[in-house]
Amino acid sequence: MSELLRIEHISKRFGDFYANRDIGLTIESGEIHTLLGENGAGKSTLMNILIGLYQPTEGKIFLRGKEVRIESPSQAVNLGIGMVHQHFMLVDAMTVFENIILGDRRAKGLFVDRDARRKEIEDLAGRYGFNVQLDRLITEISVGEQQRVEILKALYRGAELLILDEPTAALTDIEVEGLFEVMEKLKAEGKSIIFISHKMREVLHISDRITILRAGENVGTVERGELDGQGLANLMIGRELSESHYEKHEPDGRTVAVMDHISYHKDSKHNGLNDVTMKIHAGEIVGIAGVDGNGQTQLAQILTGVIAPEEGSLSLKDSRVSAFDPLEFIRSGTAHVPEDRNLQGLVSDMSIADNLVLKRTETEQFSRGHGLLLKRKAISSYAADMAEKYDIRCRSIEQDVRSLSGGNQQKVILAREMESGPDLLVVAHPTRGLDIGATRFVRDQMVAARDRGVGVLLISADFDEILEMSDRILVLFEGQIMGEYSGKNPPIDEISMAMTGK
Ligand SMILES: Nc1ncnc2c1ncn2[C@@H]1O[C@H](COP(=O)(O)OP(=O)(O)OP(=O)(O)O)[C@@H](O)[C@H]1O
Ligand SMILES: [Mg+2]
Repeated sequence: MSELLRIEHISKRFGDFYANRDIGLTIESGEIHTLLGENGAGKSTLMNILIGLYQPTEGKIFLRGKEVRIESPSQAVNLGIGMVHQHFMLVDAMTVFENIILGDRRAKGLFVDRDARRKEIEDLAGRYGFNVQLDRLITEISVGEQQRVEILKALYRGAELLILDEPTAALTDIEVEGLFEVMEKLKAEGKSIIFISHKMREVLHISDRITILRAGENVGTVERGELDGQGLANLMIGRELSESHYEKHEPDGRTVAVMDHISYHKDSKHNGLNDVTMKIHAGEIVGIAGVDGNGQTQLAQILTGVIAPEEGSLSLKDSRVSAFDPLEFIRSGTAHVPEDRNLQGLVSDMSIADNLVLKRTETEQFSRGHGLLLKRKAISSYAADMAEKYDIRCRSIEQDVRSLSGGNQQKVILAREMESGPDLLVVAHPTRGLDIGATRFVRDQMVAARDRGVGVLLISADFDEILEMSDRILVLFEGQIMGEYSGKNPPIDEISMAMTGK
């Protein structure tokens, strides 16, 4: 093996805060090198330096032994470095083909030899066993397919080093397997991959070497097999994390929500619900298993009053809902941890403190005259308590929410929703993108809520999470409930089959 990339003493400072500090690292040709670290450890920052989006405050980068300065993403492309970002950067309104050739440096002016390009892309896709439909719009294809398009785009531009920043966070298990096959093929051709993931099972499976970042520093690089998951986790968070185990619960008889023959856009197999009948009891976690995009979003939206069903009825705490209005639902005790925390959960240019009291600014606790005059002191001291209780890692509660790392943003939402004293808690993908410690924390909180008598509906694309957390499991496929299973010794194979409609 030969060294492809070496970085020496790289630091990146934002104001007086070091996101990366004195990092050294080498990437060999033909290796899969994983970066592991808690939320906010500095992984994406370091990758953004390699791709030319950020300039390091200090330090040097060498490519094949020669020092390089990477001043822009297009320069990174020229150097053979490609990246698939944590949040995809495809243009929705364009086709797959147009996205791949976008910004192609060989395209002169407006004239692109489309047929030749097509042929090249088709050959490349064939080589890696990618099944992509070049003429579909980005909005028409699945997340897994979008990801293949991103990878294809990077390869088409000649990437020798491919950076994958949490590529598996939104993929199904089968799609992850497909991605891993592609990674192995690239590796066999001598290409190098930097892989980022919070899922220990994946990291142990795919990595040749693993580098652990903690609080912006490299705390060690290990060879495959040198440490097990527990060992890696300990190195990553700097303390022992015990094994988790959650007891399953029998709920008491009260229901907090009953859906009775509910339909919404029932002919739309991916964005609708078809004759859904289900109950959520006080003191239970009902897990919805299923591949994303089989009606989960609509289920959560109906239960939180965002959309109204076209057929059927919903009762909350035994009273039938007449008006579907999110504010009314909040007042009657429904809390919601939404699937997209950036779009629905938080106001990113408001402070942590203001986000924490967002839905309660009209209460006497936080204002005079129903929101007319805010009690700033009360808000501050409440926010400080919450930051402590929920371990929200920040410099100040007056900091904008957007400057927090992903995991810490999620804790802000969770604190706000849990502390509203709900009867029904609707939670979508609560641990997506969270590190091990934050994941544990969020799960503990859900169980604590259940034990206080809250009815929890858990939607998650992470099958392990559904199995571990749920007292009862319902499978959703193309808008229909395909089966109901007890959370104690659930029939895993049967549930997996039901998830694909079999
Ligand atoms: N543009 C910025 N301005 C100020 N602080 C920033 C900026 N970008 C990142 N940070 C801070 O740098 C730290 C590292 O962030 P980074 O996004 O690299 O973490 P990460 O390891 O990728 O985390 P995650 O697993 O949540 O994606 C965080 O504390 C973050 O708040
Ligand atoms: Mg990141």
